[in-house]
Amino acid sequence: MELIEDLDVLDEDRVRQREAGDAPDEDLDRAKHGYDATAGDKQVYIETYGCQMNVNDSGIVASVLEESGYGLTRDADEADVVLLNTCAIRENAEQKIRTRLGMLRAEKARRDGELMLGVLGCMAERLREKLLEQEDLVDVVVGPDAYRDLPRLLYEADATGQAAVNVELSKQETYQDIQPVRYDSNGVSAYVSIMRGCDNMCTFCVVPFTRGREESRPVTTILSEVSQLVEEGYKEVTLLGQNVNSYHYTDENGASVSFAELVDRVSRVSPEMRVRYSTSHPKDCTDELLKVHRDRPNVCNYIHLPVQHGNTEVLDRMRRTYTREEYLALTERAKELCPGVSLSTDLIAGFCGETEEQHEDTLSLMEQVRYDHAYMFKYSERPQTYAARKYEDDVPEDTKQRRLEEIITLQNQHAKESNEAEIGRVHTVLVEGTSKKSDEQFFGRTDTNKGVVFDREDYEKGDYVRVRIDDCTSSTLLGTALEKTTLEEAARTNSITTTPVAA
Ligand code: SAH
Ligand code: SF4
Ligand code: F3S
Repeated sequence: MELIEDLDVLDEDRVRQREAGDAPDEDLDRAKHGYDATAGDKQVYIETYGCQMNVNDSGIVASVLEESGYGLTRDADEADVVLLNTCAIRENAEQKIRTRLGMLRAEKARRDGELMLGVLGCMAERLREKLLEQEDLVDVVVGPDAYRDLPRLLYEADATGQAAVNVELSKQETYQDIQPVRYDSNGVSAYVSIMRGCDNMCTFCVVPFTRGREESRPVTTILSEVSQLVEEGYKEVTLLGQNVNSYHYTDENGASVSFAELVDRVSRVSPEMRVRYSTSHPKDCTDELLKVHRDRPNVCNYIHLPVQHGNTEVLDRMRRTYTREEYLALTERAKELCPGVSLSTDLIAGFCGETEEQHEDTLSLMEQVRYDHAYMFKYSERPQTYAARKYEDDVPEDTKQRRLEEIITLQNQHAKESNEAEIGRVHTVLVEGTSKKSDEQFFGRTDTNKGVVFDREDYEKGDYVRVRIDDCTSSTLLGTALEKTTLEEAARTNSITTTPVAA
């Protein structure tokens, strides 16, 4: 069995306690969780689907279970409990998970039932008890706000042989006091969850149903998690939320903190910590926030601004709350206040009632904005949503596919052109680790979130390195390292991106 390395680092105190024989006793556990912690030496394997929030949530689940005495394993074959942290955003996301559940069921049968299966996250929340009818042999079904209850639910399912379910959504739960186990982390970049849920109700989207209402996490707990990450040597945080820039926290004294203010405060924890966030809604991208990007050198010059569509009538039917013109004005403002800002987006092809002209409006909007990166999807009807109830999913599958392909082709062209324009420039790159293709090369990211590969020489993971860009593909920049630097140094010389002599 392979234990997760980071766990040992994070929990040295507890490991020492256990070795010394003075680990918390059972009575304490009972008081804390309301059950007998009989996890024994059971090993848990967690598999994560969906967005970054789910990755972070899996870390929270790992932390909760570890606290109850479970071990974490990276090997499903070694596990006594397999948990799938699921996504429900599109039908094919759910399909993938059902296929995986089928395989796990077969494994459970091979082991004569000696394997517990859990479904967590958005699909659990969407389907609730129905999931038990549809998917045989699942032992626990746990929604995204009920992870503190997981040890009890596993215990109950084990003791009774009956499935245990908790899918209650809570307006309060932000897991503010739980440091997630960062077991898949590269030790350089970390996620910090700052808000949960979404109040927007875009007509196509299932998230408000699976994640519930928005709730922001207290500022102090966010700042202390970031400080802890600085101490552990992390160099980049990505603040997370389903609708991250609608963050708004009012403390007990009535003082209120906006998202822009929060980003500013996070950026002041350490000048060497890069700050990113995901995923933001255009309606909450304020001038105040753009000025934080402009004024704080360690707040990255990159904004993900999901537009979804380029036609105002479609945007209205999607209930996105902005028009094409308002969105375009916002991107112009971002480019004006933050020169060189990199923009990315999400796009949906083939939404209900989309005409050929409306689809072309998406292409022309892309031409105007010139995104560096985009996540592009075919519309997938989701049960419960307003669109599923009120609109007809009437764009034929082959038309959806063709429109999606046109969007992808155009985006690839834009990304390639944008990357080609980087040749000759120097970027400050944060080294995340070795490149996928070769151990002799490092992979890192520019401030503008572009991936860069270069020969590793004597540089180390976590270094900021000035890299000259020599070549590119449509997805990656290829460069030569010039020298090690710091973010402060880069800011002083105003050389996060410079255009020096040609390569
Ligand atoms: N909160 C984020 C999006 C989270 S979901 C925002 O508002 O931008 C991530 C992306 O999945 C969305 O931006 C959208 O492009 C896509 N998506 C959501 N529901 C979808 C559906 N029913 N069909 C296809 N794509 C969908
Ligand atoms: Fe879904 Fe819209 Fe909320 Fe994003 S803002 S999570 S697309 S409802
Ligand atoms: Fe999927 Fe839930 Fe994230 S539906 S995209 S895992 S919020």
